[in-house]
Amino acid sequence: MLDVAKQARVPDSRSTLLSVEDLQKTYKTRHGSIRAVDNVSFEISEGETVALVGESGCGKSTIALALLRLIDQDGGRVVFDGKDLDLLSPREANAMRRQLSIVFQNPYASLNPRMRIRDVVGEPIRTAFDVSRREREERIAGYLRSVGLGPEHMSRFPHEFSGGQRQRIAVARALALEPRLLILDEPTAALDVSVQAQVLNLLRELQTSRGLSFLYISHDLATVECIADRVLVMYLGRIVEAGRTSEVFARPAHPYTRALLDSIPIPDPAQRERLKPLGGEVPSPLNPPSGCAFHPRCGRATAHCTGTSPSLELVGKGRSVSCFHNLLETSPDPTSLISG
Ligand SMILES: Nc1ncnc2c1ncn2[C@@H]1O[C@H](COP(=O)(O)OP(=O)(O)O)[C@@H](O)[C@H]1O
Ligand SMILES: [Mg+2]
Repeated sequence: MLDVAKQARVPDSRSTLLSVEDLQKTYKTRHGSIRAVDNVSFEISEGETVALVGESGCGKSTIALALLRLIDQDGGRVVFDGKDLDLLSPREANAMRRQLSIVFQNPYASLNPRMRIRDVVGEPIRTAFDVSRREREERIAGYLRSVGLGPEHMSRFPHEFSGGQRQRIAVARALALEPRLLILDEPTAALDVSVQAQVLNLLRELQTSRGLSFLYISHDLATVECIADRVLVMYLGRIVEAGRTSEVFARPAHPYTRALLDSIPIPDPAQRERLKPLGGEVPSPLNPPSGCAFHPRCGRATAHCTGTSPSLELVGKGRSVSCFHNLLETSPDPTSLISG
């Protein structure tokens, strides 16, 4: 019957909200071209948190800016809710744009120091929604409440707040657009460690209560483990590994992922056989290495790796890796051997 096929598809697939296909961005600088994003593809489902991780300069923020249409990409497509963002009429584009919202890394730089909090949070409401002044005030109070601030904060200026509070204000401002996807670009990197956990908890609560999707950008894998359903690991503009966070953290496939994980404190180090720590610097994007860009820092690199660039290959359900000597092949999961 017709219904059967329909039902069969439903259970494990939440619907795709964002689909990025072969995104490319090269910056032209005085010193040469920088291929900041090189053929990156990924999807985010409704209500899902996907983390984008990698060292500074690997292209994370460039992806965020391209998704928000704050920079023009050189190639590829961004499809949001089934619509190609480049093919929308100006009116559709406006409506679509407010469904994606961002919280930037630095709440000291991202809040206008001359605006009262009422206006910081009220501005997006004014531009995106045709509501009365009174309704707007009520919404502002509501968003501030949802991030743990009170109406008494409305007439204050950003400098009167701590870093953690400022980031809460930035989150309230992002929520004011009523987005479906929130891009969080290193949202806790500028905060004290003690405050980081509070902000992350707030974000998780908001996601559950509002059914938001998150693109969580970070170079800090410790926070990724507690917030993300899936993780995309980037190196020099490319995704080198992707998979469910729990699986990637338990058994990283790419030597780079492994090195990143080995550089964070873990409860039981005996669980992981040690690999060489991540040595060396990120290579200059102006002059990237030949073959696999990670080869100069990789303990497993062979002559093949220096000459040929690996592509991102599927190595399991929802799991892909771009490496000729990936760690899953040499240390297979015993359960996968049993199941054949
Ligand atoms: N506006 C720009 N002009 C030239 N190069 C840029 C610009 N923005 C970023 N880059 C370069 O592009 C690369 C990726 O940067 P970015 O996306 O900010 O990485 P990340 O957010 O992962 O630190 C880096 O090499 C960076 O120096
Ligand atoms: Mg960045």
